[in-house]
Amino acid sequence: MKILITEFMDVEYVELLKTNFDVTINHDLSTNNGELKKIINSFDALIVRNKTQVNKEVLDKANNLKFVGRLGVGLDNIDTEYCKNHNIHVQPATGMNADSVAEYVFNTALTLLKNIPLMHQETLNGNWPRTSISSRELRGKTIGLLGFGLIAKKVSTLAKVFDTKIIAYDPYLDSSVGNQFNAKLLDLNEVFKLSDVISVHLPLTKNTKNILNYAAFEKMLKQPIIINSSRGSIVNEEDLIRAYEEKLISGFALDVYNTEPVPKSFLEKIKKNTNCILTPHVAGVTEESNKRVSEFIANAVKEFFNL
Ligand SMILES: NC(=O)c1ccc[n+]([C@@H]2O[C@H](COP(=O)([O-])OP(=O)(O)OC[C@H]3O[C@@H](n4cnc5c(N)ncnc54)[C@H](O)[C@@H]3O)[C@@H](O)[C@H]2O)c1
Repeated sequence: MKILITEFMDVEYVELLKTNFDVTINHDLSTNNGELKKIINSFDALIVRNKTQVNKEVLDKANNLKFVGRLGVGLDNIDTEYCKNHNIHVQPATGMNADSVAEYVFNTALTLLKNIPLMHQETLNGNWPRTSISSRELRGKTIGLLGFGLIAKKVSTLAKVFDTKIIAYDPYLDSSVGNQFNAKLLDLNEVFKLSDVISVHLPLTKNTKNILNYAAFEKMLKQPIIINSSRGSIVNEEDLIRAYEEKLISGFALDVYNTEPVPKSFLEKIKKNTNCILTPHVAGVTEESNKRVSEFIANAVKEFFNL
């Protein structure tokens, strides 16, 4: 049985796989579909993160492929429909990095409410912005969650510590699901109107793309902090910067971007004194979650092949 791994996986679990499988590791293939297409035919299983594009072109060549393991969640880089129709099992590491993302949400919400990026810059510049830059508490504020799946539920659980009110938009769920987590499910415009912090936890689909655009920012009444740790094009990046400059929002954290790595042309649009945090798609990647995700997928592939 042959496995191809195209993105980083915890070494301990790669070694575990080597006891049952012939394992090939080639990280260059995550950005080289031409090469991936040439060699995929000889593999029974493929293990990826979010960079490798497991699209129709690749899958058309994958005559022996039976299993695709995703070291994380979010399957927008995998043609799941094609896999379903061709009997290829797609396995995400559901829930294994949810704690890491939920912590990221509180980390960035607190940092941005307290204007710490601005304080840091000014202090570093030799100024002493003790009264010129204000700071806010998270306690008592309202966090609006777009999507109320696994990660959003973790956020709701952690929110209790801060006495924070949780509202959420997820039309696919019954309101009783929200009640279990002390969260109120509302319609999208209500969430825009009432939130001090808006955090996005949606999958990228044709319905969620651009859900946070200028028209959405205009509906926000409390100058919220925007946090996107889901997928890039769910938030319109140009509109986000415009909304910040027009003071419709008071800060933003982006972990994910339209194009990754994020292009210079986008970075140049962000002024130095912007209350923002930019991270390189790591909200779900901690030392702990990398182990959990890798262990989960290693066990799943072994089980799938009855080994
Ligand atoms: N930055 C990172 O490192 C990182 C890590 C993990 C997950 N993610 C992203 O976060 C996303 C959410 O993860 P999760 O584990 O909570 O997923 P999940 O599948 O548990 O939850 C997603 C929720 O979104 C809801 N939803 C789907 N379409 C919707 C729509 N059009 N409008 C409103 N709600 C809608 C679903 O009903 C579901 O409850 C993933 O899809 C992934 O893209 C990013």
